[in-house]
Amino acid sequence: MEIIAIAAMAKNRVIGNAGVIPWRISEEFKHFKETTLGHPIIMGRVTYLSIGRPLPWRRNIVISREPFDAPWVEVFSNIESLLNLLEKEGLEKIFICGGSQIYNYFFDNNKIDRVILSVIEGDYEGDAFFPEFEAAFHKIDSIQKDGFFVETFLKK
Ligand SMILES: NC(=O)c1ccc[n+]([C@@H]2O[C@H](COP(=O)([O-])OP(=O)(O)OC[C@H]3O[C@@H](n4cnc5c(N)ncnc54)[C@H](OP(=O)(O)O)[C@@H]3O)[C@@H](O)[C@H]2O)c1
Repeated sequence: MEIIAIAAMAKNRVIGNAGVIPWRISEEFKHFKETTLGHPIIMGRVTYLSIGRPLPWRRNIVISREPFDAPWVEVFSNIESLLNLLEKEGLEKIFICGGSQIYNYFFDNNKIDRVILSVIEGDYEGDAFFPEFEAAFHKIDSIQKDGFFVETFLKK
């Protein structure tokens, strides 16, 4: 099971501000949707609440230390148990969709195999950042889009 971190990050590594993504780039949302459709997406409670609803045609898994009730969503408090469970299901890939706390956990614990990162032109003000993961990865692809690059990295 490949574990893929997917994110959109400004040049200054900002991914969020006051609970929301500080840009609206429809082509970037489209890229996220097309890449993740049909696969489980895993996110922290703060990110889930910021989206406010499960994303369609994907299995939505939310991480929270507290019991948390949301329709059409699976909630897990222990990331290791979640990964053990998913591993047994023989899934092809899963997507780690943030936010900062969740990305940090997965990188700190050496769990990420691939990173699909949209690098947004310019710097943004923010309070949530993408981890400095690059030293342990090599870039295999960079595609220019309108206002951002989609960069792919594999674990060294
Ligand atoms: N640009 C992007 O691609 C992108 C993607 C996603 C999110 N974002 C942004 O990122 C920001 C949110 O990030 P965030 O770091 O504040 O929150 P987050 O990672 O989305 O969620 C944090 C919550 O996850 C739970 N959690 C975290 N680590 C855990 C662990 N080890 N075990 C069990 N539960 C754990 C806790 O929930 P409980 O408090 O319920 O225990 C914690 O409060 C927002 O601004 C959002 O817009 C940006």
